[in-house]
Amino acid sequence: MRYEELMSGVAVVRRAGPSEGGGPTIRGVEYDSRRVGPGSLFIAMRGGTTDGNRYIKKAVEQGAVAVVTDSDAAFADTVERLPDVAVAEIPVGAGRRALGAIASNFFGQPERRLKLSGLTGTNGKTTTAFLLDAMLNSANRKTVLVGTIENHVAGVVRPAPHTTPESRDLLELLRDGVDAGATEGVMEVSSHALAQGRVHGLPYDVAIFTNLTQDHLDYHGTMENYFAAKRALFDGELGAAPRVAVINIDDRYGAELAVIAREAGAEIFSYGLGAGEFRAQGAEMGASRMRFRLAAPAGEVEVQTRLTGRVNLYNLLAAAGAAYARGLSLEQIAEGAAALQCVPGRFQTVDAGQPFTVVVDYAHTDDALRNLTALAREFVGGKSRVITLFGCGGDRDKAKRPKMGRAAGEGSDFVVLTSDNPRSEDPEAIMRDALPGLLETGTKFVAEPDRARAIRIAVEEARPGDIVLLAGKGHEKEQVLQHGTIPFDDAEVAADVIRAALGVRA
Ligand SMILES: Nc1ncnc2c1ncn2[C@@H]1O[C@H](COP(=O)(O)OP(=O)(O)OP(=O)(O)O)[C@@H](O)[C@H]1O
Ligand SMILES: [Mg+2]
Repeated sequence: MRYEELMSGVAVVRRAGPSEGGGPTIRGVEYDSRRVGPGSLFIAMRGGTTDGNRYIKKAVEQGAVAVVTDSDAAFADTVERLPDVAVAEIPVGAGRRALGAIASNFFGQPERRLKLSGLTGTNGKTTTAFLLDAMLNSANRKTVLVGTIENHVAGVVRPAPHTTPESRDLLELLRDGVDAGATEGVMEVSSHALAQGRVHGLPYDVAIFTNLTQDHLDYHGTMENYFAAKRALFDGELGAAPRVAVINIDDRYGAELAVIAREAGAEIFSYGLGAGEFRAQGAEMGASRMRFRLAAPAGEVEVQTRLTGRVNLYNLLAAAGAAYARGLSLEQIAEGAAALQCVPGRFQTVDAGQPFTVVVDYAHTDDALRNLTALAREFVGGKSRVITLFGCGGDRDKAKRPKMGRAAGEGSDFVVLTSDNPRSEDPEAIMRDALPGLLETGTKFVAEPDRARAIRIAVEEARPGDIVLLAGKGHEKEQVLQHGTIPFDDAEVAADVIRAALGVRA
């Protein structure tokens, strides 16, 4: 594609360099100089940690034929030293917007060839996105799912490096989806992505708000700033308001957001446990499944799902509202909910035929451990026990270690203290840091730094009816140790251990 075509719709301050015949032919658009190859257009912008403008020379050495910069000085310098390169200067702060516009042109505006649903909120984005994806798939629609755990491109799973990728990478994913026949895009939109304008210009058909609580305040400073970032998905700030806004009105910020979205022109689909257009009635929950009646404007339907707990009731309502907005019937919604086996690492049950429940969950903070053990407690009857395995990550906040120990001890009847990702630290030393909190609770425990052995201890401790919680690593497929990274999957290790144990018992 020609340079001129690519730059259409991009506001520039000034330009220089070759322009005859529409400028150089562009074979790629990159913002990371390490990915630049022959024929690339390199967008150099000031970011949070590095300034891309420092890498212009390197990018050109690697073959970049065009440069877009947000720096006055870098523009002048490039014009002088690299006269063969097409250069454009864009206003300071417009880098990410330009990246989005240029990448959209480069990838053939895939965002206009899909119906996009965007999810935002503090918790439940990944789970709700998986549910909506499953619902759309059960109605035979091909999808692109962009999320924290993994991306799905028309049925093919790819690992996901960030919650919301940079616009360029996001657009490439959408393009791949369009090429593979997808007609729907489902994406988690983090507040960081909204605040940084990484999704600017994306035309969301449906926007979903799950909830807003005091997380991520380290980044946003105040709840007001945090809310301001989230509302951008609903108030038209990205270019246009969504056609439909699906909003949790049990959340204190939801009601406020509904007013904002309606004023911006969106139709509102509200949901909640007691109030709203989408409600859940007569819920029955078990440790590995749940059923309830979904009440919607068009009627009611019985929903059965492998997700469980109150928070997942909310996630199901959110996904149902969005799926309904995308034109699915209540039956298709119920089918999709039943089809989803699990969200990897989110209260994921491991069933290898054992007479007790084993759950893999990525809870890796004291708060998350408290929620996880409390949820497990709801499902264990009378004499049954909650057995929790956990560890603390190395090279990360040490202050949270004793707090995690306390949370695990308080919520459990038996604890197995082990390693998470020790990284460069000594596993035994990390375990010692968690001990004071755990000891204060007086809960019985075993300490075993080898995670596989620890999982065996936890499983062997379980009696019929108990719940074993394997916390911390969730969907991760590796463990990061001092001397390297090894393949490691909690769910797989647990299933192996159980099968071996059952074999021995039989
Ligand atoms: N609707 C909800 N309300 C409150 N908590 C929830 C909700 N859904 C899930 N959770 C809790 O939050 C955890 C994370 O869920 P999920 O991965 O779906 O959220 P997320 O918004 O994608 O999070 P992240 O910001 O880490 O990507 C779950 O393990 C669960 O304990
Ligand atoms: Mg997520």
